[in-house]
Amino acid sequence: MWGGRFAEGPAAVMREINASIPFDKRMWRQDIAGSVAHATMLGATGIIEAADAVSIIDGLGQVAADYERDGVPVDLALEDIHMVTETRLAEKIGATAGRLHTARSRNDQVATDFRLWVRDALDEVDTGLAGLQRALVNRAETFADTIMPGFTHLQSAQPVTLGHHLMAYYEMLRRDRSRFTDARVRMNECPLGAAALAGTGFPVDRHATASALGFDRPTDNSLDSVSDRDFALDYLMAATQLSLHLSRLAEEFIIWASQPFGFVSLPDAYSTGSSIMPQKRNPDAAELVRGHAGRIMGCMTSLCVTMKGLPLAYSKDMQDDKPPLFEAHDLLGLCIAAMTGMVETVTFRTDRMRALAESGFATATDLADWLVREAKVPFREAHHITGRAVKAAEDAGVALAALPIGTLTAIDARIDERVYGVLTIDASVASRRSHGGTAPDQVRARIADARALLGATT
Ligand code: ARG
Repeated sequence: MWGGRFAEGPAAVMREINASIPFDKRMWRQDIAGSVAHATMLGATGIIEAADAVSIIDGLGQVAADYERDGVPVDLALEDIHMVTETRLAEKIGATAGRLHTARSRNDQVATDFRLWVRDALDEVDTGLAGLQRALVNRAETFADTIMPGFTHLQSAQPVTLGHHLMAYYEMLRRDRSRFTDARVRMNECPLGAAALAGTGFPVDRHATASALGFDRPTDNSLDSVSDRDFALDYLMAATQLSLHLSRLAEEFIIWASQPFGFVSLPDAYSTGSSIMPQKRNPDAAELVRGHAGRIMGCMTSLCVTMKGLPLAYSKDMQDDKPPLFEAHDLLGLCIAAMTGMVETVTFRTDRMRALAESGFATATDLADWLVREAKVPFREAHHITGRAVKAAEDAGVALAALPIGTLTAIDARIDERVYGVLTIDASVASRRSHGGTAPDQVRARIADARALLGATT
């Protein structure tokens, strides 16, 4: 492509370090779409003959059909998807192919292709997340009344419902989706026409190419256009946050599936056995979702470090933008699909959850709150009185609700029989009706909100 200036060909290792075709071939659809839009514009503006534009567009269609059928040929000598496609085009239509690169550089071309690819990736993630949210909402509705221990510090804290717990993950994913949506709006500007870095002297119509490719508008600064990879970083940062959320849910499934907890039985389809211990059922899929969060964060870090300190405008370092993004996207797709499958099919051991919620004095706060409400005891003092009641229950080896009234009144004379109304886990859960609280009617109201939102956005 630059034979005019160079007397010698590249060293073999130069070819190898320089080539991006082994990975950027994944962008062939976007590369063809960008070239079709560019050729259409070149013809419409009279920058090239209309007949040449038609021939180029027709040839690009043939190249695309070849790629679809046989895959993209990897030839390191041709360096990248842009050069491979142009070479294939020349094989189809001859010298006219050489007119396609008028008023364009690979710098604005790659920036455009990559944006188109990331935009599709964002849409894919959003669809996947909507599916996972729907799975969570469905299971949450089934278990809106099911009581389990709520934890802080992984210590039994207050009873909550399983539906409430699952809906917490729905909320995380709602924020994740808004990050991806936000990124999509910000990235939807077209760099094509920025050319190498300074714009072009040809009378290009950047608005036409932008709109043909589904962008909202052309970008406003040619230097920024070819050197900006914020859109890829936006994706990777949102992906990192999302993968952290998925790793937390995965971790809960792993803990819950352990024998001491026994809250869930993970489906066979998402577990593995042991080659030596016949009783084993390992939560491998959940463990890999937990682990992949580390790799996704690594991809994000990789591109941050590549971009850090790069001067304007394009530098070849930026070719390294694609492998981490592709890797993160592939991993994320697997994680979302695996989590969705697990959420849909996991068996919840609700009897076990209830039994554990009954133990651990999880209604101690309800006793303290009752003293505040009914006996007008200051909360700090109520906390202290309740601590003594917990100690008495612990010593007697019974639940708070099973302490005889005599024991309670001996601790504080202001306690009376009515207190038993708040000491059961059912009463505790039902009482937490503040907005966003764990009471089943609150959880159902939030599920209804979620269903309305999911219906409206997907
Ligand atoms: N393969 C290159 C990349 O991925 C395309 C742009 C090359 N531009 C250049 N002037 N060498 O970034």
